[in-house]
Amino acid sequence: KDHRLARISSSIRVIPDFPKPGIMFQDITTLLLDHKAFRDTIDIFVERYREKNISVVAGIEARGFIFGPPIALAIGAKFVPMRKPKKLPGEVISEEYALEYGTDKMEMHVGAVQPGDRALVIDDLIATGGTLCAAVRLLERVGADVVECACVIELPELKGREKLGHRPVFVLVKG
Ligand code: PRP
Ligand code: MG
Repeated sequence: KDHRLARISSSIRVIPDFPKPGIMFQDITTLLLDHKAFRDTIDIFVERYREKNISVVAGIEARGFIFGPPIALAIGAKFVPMRKPKKLPGEVISEEYALEYGTDKMEMHVGAVQPGDRALVIDDLIATGGTLCAAVRLLERVGADVVECACVIELPELKGREKLGHRPVFVLVKG
C-alpha cells in the first residue's frame, strides 16, 4: 500500500455540520497547506495517467480546478474547465444534474473537446456521483472517450460509483 496515502488522508480536515446540519464536510484546503501531501496527491495521479494517452483533463468547478491543471501539465494534456452555468463566455453545451434539493447545471465550451479525445475527469470528491456523471455526459456527447474519473476522496456509503456504470473511478482515500 502507498505510504503517501496516510499523510494525504490525515491532511484532510473534516468539519461537522457544514454547510448544513448532519453533513461531515471533507475540507481539502488543509491538504493544500501540507506541501508534501499536495505534491504526493498530484504525483500519484500523474504516475497513474502519464502513460495512458490522455489528451484532456476535464476539471470540475471548483476544486477540480485545483487538482486538474498540475496533472494536465505533467502528463501533457489540455485542461478543460467544466463550469457552473453562465460562467463560460463562448458557446457551451450543458447538462443538468441532481443536487440534494433541486438541480444544477454544468457547462463546457463547444470545441474544447474533440471526437476521439481521451479524457480524464478530475474532482475533489465523489458523493452521489451526480456531478461526475454530468461531466461524463458532456464529454461523451462530443465524442470523447472517458478513460477514468479520479477524485481525492470517495464517500462510499453514497454508492456514487454505481452511477458511473462501466467507467472506472479512482480515488485516493475514503471518507
Ligand atoms: C461537491 C464536491 C463534488 C460534488 C460531489 O461540490 O466538490 O464536486 O459535491 O457530489 P456528488 O457526487 O453527490 O455529485 P459542490 O456541489 O458542493 O460544489 P463546489 O465544488 O462548487 O463547492
Ligand atoms: Mg464540487
